[in-house]
Amino acid sequence: MILLTGATGNVGRELTALLPEARTLTHGSGADLAEPETLTAALQTVDTVFLIWPFLTADGAEATLGKIAQHARRVVYLSSSAVRFGPDTDPITRLHSDLEVAVRASGLEWTILRADTFASNALGWAGQLRAHFPRVGRPEGSCLRLISPRRRWRGPGRPRRPGVRRRPGLPVGCR
Ligand SMILES: NC(=O)c1ccc[n+]([C@@H]2O[C@H](COP(=O)([O-])OP(=O)(O)OC[C@H]3O[C@@H](n4cnc5c(N)ncnc54)[C@H](OP(=O)(O)O)[C@@H]3O)[C@@H](O)[C@H]2O)c1
Repeated sequence: MILLTGATGNVGRELTALLPEARTLTHGSGADLAEPETLTAALQTVDTVFLIWPFLTADGAEATLGKIAQHARRVVYLSSSAVRFGPDTDPITRLHSDLEVAVRASGLEWTILRADTFASNALGWAGQLRAHFPRVGRPEGSCLRLISPRRRWRGPGRPRRPGVRRRPGLPVGCR
């Protein structure tokens, strides 16, 4: 059994559609990734957990991974491609770097997905665009690689190239 966390989110919604046989962790029903004991029921008979970490720091991640390890064999963690720039680049990079360390130390088998920027982030600009706020362009020559959760996601069980699991993080996005 696969347990999908973040199932109501941008990525989780797509994964839920791709893996209808998987169980979903529903935050609204009382399961909270910050409170490991609330995960007990959802983790029963689970073999693999697809983990997103919806918080701004890695505080509590060790305890949550410990709880997962009591039940499951494997974790697939959705990290960020920004990790390659080093943990001190910005707080979000720090968060994902810390989570990767915690995942590797958890004793679980792991796959780490390093995703590029989600195109769905752009929806956050919708209100400003409607209000005709000016937009600041990116410097000439720079580019932002966007990934659509719908078009690019192929699921944690389908790496793009054979042998890619030996790498520290599996890149997901536009290369
Ligand atoms: N945005 C990017 O460009 C980008 C790039 C690389 C990686 N990532 C990572 O990808 C992950 C998923 O992104 P997303 O856009 O799919 O996220 P999202 O749309 O914001 O969804 C977050 C999900 O987490 C759930 N959740 C929130 N707090 C929770 C809690 N305390 N316990 C259990 N579940 C909780 C939410 O459930 P409710 O709706 O019920 O609260 C929702 O299902 C994030 O961790 C992010 O760091 C993002």
